Amino acid sequence: MKKIFALALCAVMMLSVLAGCGGKQDAPADTPAQNEPAAPAETTPDAPEAGGTIGVCIYQFTDAFMTTYRNALQEILEGKGYKVTTVDGANDQAKQNEQINTFITQGVDALIINPVMTSAADQIIATVQAAGIPTVLINREPTPEQMAVYDKLVYVGCDARQSGTMQGELILDTPNKGDINGDGKVSYIMVQGDPENVDAQYRTEFSVKALVDAGMEVEELNLTRGDWMRERGQEIVANDLAQFGDQVEVVFCNNDDMAIGALQSIQAAGRKVNEDIYLVGVDALDAALNEVSNGNMTGTVLNDAVGQATAAVEQMEALLGGATFSSGNQSVYVDYVKVTPENVGDFMS
Ligand code: GAL
Repeated sequence: MKKIFALALCAVMMLSVLAGCGGKQDAPADTPAQNEPAAPAETTPDAPEAGGTIGVCIYQFTDAFMTTYRNALQEILEGKGYKVTTVDGANDQAKQNEQINTFITQGVDALIINPVMTSAADQIIATVQAAGIPTVLINREPTPEQMAVYDKLVYVGCDARQSGTMQGELILDTPNKGDINGDGKVSYIMVQGDPENVDAQYRTEFSVKALVDAGMEVEELNLTRGDWMRERGQEIVANDLAQFGDQVEVVFCNNDDMAIGALQSIQAAGRKVNEDIYLVGVDALDAALNEVSNGNMTGTVLNDAVGQATAAVEQMEALLGGATFSSGNQSVYVDYVKVTPENVGDFMS
């Protein structure tokens, strides 16, 4: 009986590994078929048949997108009968390291970790590996080399290049492709997230690359880190508009919370989005969806919190069922989706 269950689990797990990798685009070597599915049933006697204890570490509870994400994780895990404890790293890696150690001491069955610092991945991985805890990393992607040392480790996230490209496309889709004043170039300001994070790096790079690849000339008036926070977006854009005024044609924000802050400053400066300035974000927070639908944001990109939470739990269950991941094949991607005034209704609840 147990064996039949284990075999069924094995099959489900293989399916979910295959499905989970479907969104992967840029690494042909990483074909789903290379994932090593579960070890034979006999080697996984401890896989919990229902429930189990899960520790979830979030880098910072005040982050708007990660709040949606952690709520989705909690709901999915509890709906499946797991006991879940979610902790706030308060943007402090030392604090998160302690939280991970505490979870290990408590004997959790699996960990889901949103690292505070990508640069701390080596240490986090060494810790969970020493304890033998199956671990899903989320949201802040380590390098394949960092992950390769531990085969009970998988990353679930999105390919941030895709979101940057989509932001550029949102601008290219406007009537003047971002060149509002018709001087032959798109003059923009870039409000960056935490630059330690690949999401911030790639969105910054690929949003502009999409314009350049489409043959547009671009001019960066300013680039400032806003660390994903609304108040920073507001401050930065207020300063940039005071300094550069009408020269600013496009405001790229690496996420929606900063874009909402930016919008406040755009409106305070008497500017009108989609008429004399364009504004794009990423995440599809409810507030941003409202602004896209009201015409106060040019567009955003869905960062699918529920899809990623679902995939993270699927991969966690695969690990609990005994799956291991081979090196170079430890990232599972969920697709981003472009959100425009035309389709925004599909994303609003
Ligand atoms: C990004 C998201 C940001 C922020 C960041 C945290 O994917 O777009 O809003 O939550 O993750 O690492």
